[in-house]
Amino acid sequence: MKVLMISGSRNPQGKTATMAEAALRGAAQAGAQCERVWLPEMKMERCRQCDEAGWGDCRAKGSCVIEDDFAALVTKIRQADAVVFATPVYFGDLSESLRAFTDRLRRITRHEAGKAGIVGKPALGVSVAGGSGNGSFFCADSLNKTLSTSGFEVRDSVAVRRQMMDLKAPSLEAGGRALGR
Ligand SMILES: Cc1cc2nc3c(=O)[nH]c(=O)nc-3n(C[C@H](O)[C@H](O)[C@H](O)COP(=O)(O)O)c2cc1C
Repeated sequence: MKVLMISGSRNPQGKTATMAEAALRGAAQAGAQCERVWLPEMKMERCRQCDEAGWGDCRAKGSCVIEDDFAALVTKIRQADAVVFATPVYFGDLSESLRAFTDRLRRITRHEAGKAGIVGKPALGVSVAGGSGNGSFFCADSLNKTLSTSGFEVRDSVAVRRQMMDLKAPSLEAGGRALGR
């Protein structure tokens, strides 16, 4: 059993990582092997909206024409049994790096070839608002929406306000345990 964590934070010791690690701790307790990926370290362009109508090759082929780290990360998702998506809350929404990745992911999954190994895969969303704490619910909803559009079976999309981290950690651990089973 493999659980992949994809983080849109650039701080492996930060608040987003702390909450994502709670979920991974649970997954590991259930016997899963966990791998971590930090999107800001990767080369991940935004969607080019290739043709005039706003679509592109992705619609016809289920893959993206941009040659960066996108395809390799999609392969990692396909090889995993479950995925934890974690993001710091920026402006009440996903971080730019996670947005860039999920925007392209939902496009390739319009095609059968792109859906392979993604549709029906269990996913857990973690959105961490580390400033005022505002915007966590909108961000969690936005993450749920984009992951659902890509076809993941979103088990939960957890909104974490800075002030509630200690309270939310045990439930994320339990969520991770359920994912890792
Ligand atoms: C550009 C930017 C926008 C932010 N917007 C919000 C926000 O809307 N609400 C909030 O509570 N915190 C906001 N923050 C604070 C981040 O949520 C906080 O830095 C993050 O949770 C820390 O995660 P990390 O430790 O993984 O970097 C913002 C931070 C940045 C850099």
